[in-house]
Amino acid sequence: MKTTRKIKKILSAKATMEGAGVRLKRVFGNPEMPLFDPFLLMDDFHSDHPDDYMAGFPMHPHRGIETITYVLQGSVAHRDSMGNKGVINRGDIQWMTAGSGIVHEEMPQISKPGLWGFQLWSNLPASHKMMPPRYQEVPEASIPTVSPKEGVNIKVICGEVAGVKGPVQEIITNPEYLDISIQAGTTFDISVPGGHTVFTYVIEGEAVFGDSASVFVPKEQVILFEDGDTVRITTHDAAVRFLLVSGKPIGEPVAWHGPIVMNTDDEIKTALREYQNGTFIK
Ligand code: CO
Repeated sequence: MKTTRKIKKILSAKATMEGAGVRLKRVFGNPEMPLFDPFLLMDDFHSDHPDDYMAGFPMHPHRGIETITYVLQGSVAHRDSMGNKGVINRGDIQWMTAGSGIVHEEMPQISKPGLWGFQLWSNLPASHKMMPPRYQEVPEASIPTVSPKEGVNIKVICGEVAGVKGPVQEIITNPEYLDISIQAGTTFDISVPGGHTVFTYVIEGEAVFGDSASVFVPKEQVILFEDGDTVRITTHDAAVRFLLVSGKPIGEPVAWHGPIVMNTDDEIKTALREYQNGTFIK
């Protein structure tokens, strides 16, 4: 028998400042660890005031994690110390596996409608923390949309829905990253992998998640679910748009220093020393 996941926790995104002075909302982060394992952090950048975002994220290192950037409005220019560069445009996603190390900058571009995007950090297990860095850059045009039910549209970025696979593949924690829109007056059950961590983040509208006793969840709230096989979403008068993310928990010790996340303090010290003496990039 299929079990519908119950809500474990609901959190509101909190205003904070990051990078060289970017005002953003932190959906979850260090204080919530290890609740969202394998995920470490998620930020929501949403502003039509250039002063809130133009300072950007100048050159900084990452090691031991993946950063997943999804842009809904505006664009983010990206450049790394190995000469890779590009622009993440509206609708595009960049799945960056920092692995053994990347030093990069991420600079939101000033644009008329403003900036709206998300960055998720996914941890890597000890076996893959020092893997070679790689990028999966996915333009909006190559993200398939499936409609498993009338009134339900799902952009499959990573994972598989109704036999359709997303373009981001071969990720260690076997994650799903879905952008789901459901019109008003609809109930939809989506299958999710049992045993995996699952959360949803409402970005527009509102819906009831989980069993019928649950409350309406509005935008800028994240829901972490208990274990089970499906997530039930019910809309009433309003439509909803939300991200659904799942991944296999890693269950290892976490040593976290800013943008570097390893298993032990010694590994953090090594990373910082290498960054100082110029041997960080492998
Ligand atoms: Co970064």
